[in-house]
Amino acid sequence: AHQAHRDKLGRPLRDLRISLTDRCNFRCRYCMPREKFGPDYAFLSNDEILTIDEIVRVTGLLAKLGVEKVRLTGGEPLLRRDIADIIARITEIEGIEDIALTTNGSLLTAKRAKSLADAGLKRITISLDAMNESIFQGVNDVGFPVHRVLKAIAAAQDAGLEPVKVNMVVRRGLNESEILPMAEYFRGTGAVLRFIEYMDVGTTNGWQLQDVISAQEIFRTIDAKFPLVATEARTPGEVATRFRYADGQGEIGIIHSVSKPFCGTCNRLRLTAEGDLFTCLFAARGFPLRSRLRDGTGDDELLQILGEVWLTRSDRYSELRTKQTANLPRIEMSRIGG
Ligand code: GTP
Ligand code: 5AD
Ligand code: SF4
Ligand code: SF4
Repeated sequence: AHQAHRDKLGRPLRDLRISLTDRCNFRCRYCMPREKFGPDYAFLSNDEILTIDEIVRVTGLLAKLGVEKVRLTGGEPLLRRDIADIIARITEIEGIEDIALTTNGSLLTAKRAKSLADAGLKRITISLDAMNESIFQGVNDVGFPVHRVLKAIAAAQDAGLEPVKVNMVVRRGLNESEILPMAEYFRGTGAVLRFIEYMDVGTTNGWQLQDVISAQEIFRTIDAKFPLVATEARTPGEVATRFRYADGQGEIGIIHSVSKPFCGTCNRLRLTAEGDLFTCLFAARGFPLRSRLRDGTGDDELLQILGEVWLTRSDRYSELRTKQTANLPRIEMSRIGG
C-alpha cells in the first residue's frame, strides 16, 4: 500500500466514494422527497458528468495518495450503463484492494449481478427500509415492492458478492416499527443488516433531531428479543458498530453518526458525478476538479492539487452538530452518495 496522506487532524486518506449519477428512480422520503425532486429539478446533463476515463484517472491519482477502497454510489449507480466497465478499470489500478457498490437494488437482475462480479466488484450493499409492503412503498414513494429488493439481494448472493449488506435508514414515525421484523427476517440468511440513524444530510428532507431513533434504542429493541454480543471492528474507520447474535444467527451493524459521531477516524473522500471533491458528507461546497481534468492540467499538477485538498482538511461535522447546524447549506445526499 502507498503511504497515506494525513489531513490536519492526522487522519489518513483510505476510502474514496464515487457518485456515478445524481439521478435515482426512487424518491425516498428521507433523501429525495418528491416535492423537492419533481419534474422541474435540474439534474446534471451528460456533458457535466465525469466520463469513465476521467473517473479512472482521478482514482489512479488518489491511489497514489493512499486510497485503497472504492465505493460506487449515486443517486442510483446502476442507472449508469457503463458501470461494469468502470469497475473493471478501477480494479486494475495499483493499490486498490476493495471495490464495493451501494444500490437500491431495483435494477440488479441476476444477470447484472453476475456481470458486476465478473468485472471485479467485491461487495455490495442494498438498501431496504421495511419488510412491510405499504411502509416500504411509502418510503421509496414510487411503489417499488419489497419482494423485488429481496430478489436483488438473492441475486447478489448467488453472484458470490457475499456477505451482502442491507441498509435500513430508521426514521421515527416512518419505519421504526420495522426494526424487529427486519432483524427477524435477515437473521440466519448470511446477509448483514445495518440500521442507520436518520441523518441531517442535504437541506430538503426536513430533518429534526426528534425524528432520529438512536443507536441505543435500536440496540435495545433487538437485544430484548434476540440477544446481541459486541464484535470487533473489521477495518479501521468502519462506520458501523458490529454485533453478533448470541445464538449464532449472524451479525448486524448500527451506524450511529448522530448519537455517537465517528469523525475521529474518518478516512473518506467523496467525488461527485460532476467532479467535485468533498472532504465531508455535510460540506456545503467541494473542490471543483472537472475543469482541471478538461483543461490539459498534467498528472503531476493534479496530484499536487489532490494532495492539497486532503492536507488542508479539518472537517468533523457530526462532532459539531447542533440544532442550529442543521440549517447550514450543504450538498444533497443524492449528489454526494452518502
Ligand atoms: P462499508 O463499511 O465499506 O461496508 O461501507 P459503508 O457502510 O461505509 O457504506 P454505505 O454506503 O452502506 O453507507 C452506510 C451509511 O453510512 C450511509 O447512510 C452513509 O451515508 C453513512 N456514512 C458513510 N460514510 C460516512 C461518513 O463518513 N460520515 C457519516 N456521517 N456517515 C457516513
Ligand atoms: N440518513 C441516513 N442515511 C441515509 N441514506 C440516504 N439518506 C439518508 C439519511 N438522511 C442512506 C441510503 C443508502 C445510504 C448510501 O445512505 O438509504 O443506504
Ligand atoms: Fe435513491 Fe438511495 Fe436516495 Fe432512495 S436513498 S432516493 S434509493 S439515492
Ligand atoms: Fe467524516 Fe464528515 Fe462524516 Fe465526520 S461528518 S465522519 S468528517 S464525512
